[in-house]
Amino acid sequence: MSRTITIAKAGLPPGPQGTLIGGNASQIGTRRVDFFLDLAQTYGPIASFRAGRWRVFLVSDPELIQQVLVTDARHYIKHFGARAFKPILGNGLVTSEGDFWLSQRRMMQPSFLKAQVLSYAPIMGDLTNAMLSKWAPGKAVDLEFEFSGLTSAIALKTLFGLDDHGEREAVDESLLEVFDSLTERLDAIFKLPLWMPTPANLRISRAIAKVKKLVDGFIAQKRSRPLANDLLSTLIMAQREDGTRMTDQQLRDEAMTLYLAGYETTALTLTWSWYLLSQHPQAEQKLVEEWARVLGGRTPNADELTALPYTAAVINEAMRLYPPVYAIGREATRDLELGGYRVKRGYTILMSQWVSHRDPKYFPEPERFLPERWLDGLAARLPKFAYYPFGGGQRLCIGSHFATMEAAIALATVGQKYKFTLSPDAEIDIKPQITLPPKYGMPAILELR
Ligand code: HEM
Repeated sequence: MSRTITIAKAGLPPGPQGTLIGGNASQIGTRRVDFFLDLAQTYGPIASFRAGRWRVFLVSDPELIQQVLVTDARHYIKHFGARAFKPILGNGLVTSEGDFWLSQRRMMQPSFLKAQVLSYAPIMGDLTNAMLSKWAPGKAVDLEFEFSGLTSAIALKTLFGLDDHGEREAVDESLLEVFDSLTERLDAIFKLPLWMPTPANLRISRAIAKVKKLVDGFIAQKRSRPLANDLLSTLIMAQREDGTRMTDQQLRDEAMTLYLAGYETTALTLTWSWYLLSQHPQAEQKLVEEWARVLGGRTPNADELTALPYTAAVINEAMRLYPPVYAIGREATRDLELGGYRVKRGYTILMSQWVSHRDPKYFPEPERFLPERWLDGLAARLPKFAYYPFGGGQRLCIGSHFATMEAAIALATVGQKYKFTLSPDAEIDIKPQITLPPKYGMPAILELR
């Protein structure tokens, strides 16, 4: 296929002026997703702004996104935001680059193929039922808290084979401590680098050391016991073409990456799905009818998921309106061309699912929650990067099958027993960080279905 040679336009894509020193950093800090949406609506499919010392292009046309994530992918690395997580994720799949990343991805891919992931369905169902056994009608809960507990338990069981509640809590607490402090750091990206011995940095370093020790313990245990069907065991056995396997440090980085990349994102999918359903009783009614018809009160097994198209449509639509990862970024490693503009080495390209998923060209009445839009083959008709909750190209989320299966099993299992009414005084807003949690949680009252 011949590629047209485009002459790069002089100058930068259109965008707001910003302040002399910070550029548009303050808007990114305070009203990030609105700022991105305004930018795309005002300046078009390729806009630019400055965040502190970073020059950023916001790209929202599917073809341009494809150029960054697929065609020119080899000339981009992850952007500064993703790199801020290196202290905890090390050289795991999310943060590694180049040949090393490729070799790890090839080794890990088989563990995440659909057929392999299906074997985790019973664990997902059992742990959802274990959560339900602690619920009672009339109880006030925070759905985000409940679903984070659930997806964390599922991640720790499928990843490390962990059943023990105490062990699970220890990992959870220390990982959360690290993750929260790193998220804060990202919000304060202009602050001192992590190696400076400030009290906050020392706290993070101590928390990181604690988590690493815990995970190292799991790896040592796994190595000394007969191998089981958990992900860590499959990673221990995984081999490169030359027969070599992962070192303990590589295993640790990958295990922590899988845990952190996987559990909160899936919890948010469930939380926002239930929020949207609580606001749209007709859609909820259709779900209940689908479950009654196909499942009759049972927890779905892996084979039954394909018979639940409305459940899948609700999950798709929730991830459209509240994409758990609402933006991904890349940094150019050499001068490039994009949409007729010159991308200089070091520039950041940002692609926002929050923005793309609201494009009325592909999603008429974009702010409406309308699961039906997915029922007549919309996914196959859309251009590749009009809807990309799991990213795309070579860095496509490795856990996408895992996550969609987990969300469908949990949604159907929970929803056949309970419904939720939002607490009357609940204030619902978003708090964009790396992911998109509700700002004040999701307080709800449980009612028996
Ligand atoms: C609804 C849930 C999830 C969402 C929305 C989500 C979203 C994403 C996105 C957008 C990316 C691409 C990031 C980029 O290109 O910069 C990604 C990558 C990744 N995700 Fe997920 N994810 C989810 C669940 C999971 C789960 C359950 C796991 C693990 C079990 C996981 C593991 C990963 C890993 C390891 C990568 C990096 C892949 C690579 O670069 O090779 N994710 N995810």
